[in-house]
Amino acid sequence: MALINPSILSADFARLAEEAKAVEGADWLHVDVMDNHFVPNLTLGVPVVESLRKATDTPLDLHLMIEDPDRWAPQYVEAGAGSVTFHVEAAGAPVRLAREIRAQGARASMALKPATPIEPYEDLLPELDMLLIMTVEPGFGGQSFLDIMLPKIRRTRELISKHGLELWLQVDGGVSAATIERCAEAGADVFVAGSAVYGADDPAKAVRDLRESARA
Ligand code: DX5
Ligand code: ZN
Repeated sequence: MALINPSILSADFARLAEEAKAVEGADWLHVDVMDNHFVPNLTLGVPVVESLRKATDTPLDLHLMIEDPDRWAPQYVEAGAGSVTFHVEAAGAPVRLAREIRAQGARASMALKPATPIEPYEDLLPELDMLLIMTVEPGFGGQSFLDIMLPKIRRTRELISKHGLELWLQVDGGVSAATIERCAEAGADVFVAGSAVYGADDPAKAVRDLRESARA
C-alpha cells in the first residue's frame, strides 16, 4: 500500500478550493493546523476545514500541531475530518483522546516529533489507526528530510508487525521523489508531500509519480 497525501500548507491559501481540486486523485488531503504555540507558525482552524470539506471529495487528513488537542480534536471531526492526528507531546490523555476520535467515527492518529521515541508508546499502538513519524521539525513546509529518522520508521514498522496491527505508518516532512523510496523501504505506507506536490508544474502528476516511486 502507498497512500499519497498532498499537504495544502504549500498551496496558495487564497485559492484553497482550486488547490484542493488540483490534487483530486490523491488519497487524502493533508491539512496542517498550527496555533503559534505548539509550533512557531499559524495556519487555519475549524471554519476553514468546514469550507474545505465542501470544496473537495478527497477525505481530509488533519494534522494538529496545537496545544491541548484533547480540547480541540473533536471539533475537527465534527468539521468533517476523516482522520485526526494529534501530537503525543501535546496531548494530556492520548488514549482517551484516540478513543474519543474513533467513537466520533474518524480515524485516530498520533504524531511523534523527531526527538520523541516510539518505544514508550508501544502499548498505545492498538488504540490508533495511524502513527505519524515527523521527518522534519514540525512548523514549516519545504525543509530537508531528516535521514536520521529512518531507523525510527524501521523500528516502528517492526513493532506494528510484532503486534499484528493494521495501523498505517505516515511520514511527513521533506518527502519528495528523492526521499520517498527510502521511506517506503523503511516501512512507511502513507506519505505527506507539500512542496513536492504544490511546487510542481502539474500537482496531480506529482502525486501519481510519488505513488509510483513509493511502490517501486
Ligand atoms: C510541517 C507540516 C508538513 C508540511 C510538509 O510541519 O506538518 O505537513 O506541509 O511540507 P514538505 O513536504 O514541503 O516538507
Ligand atoms: Zn503535516
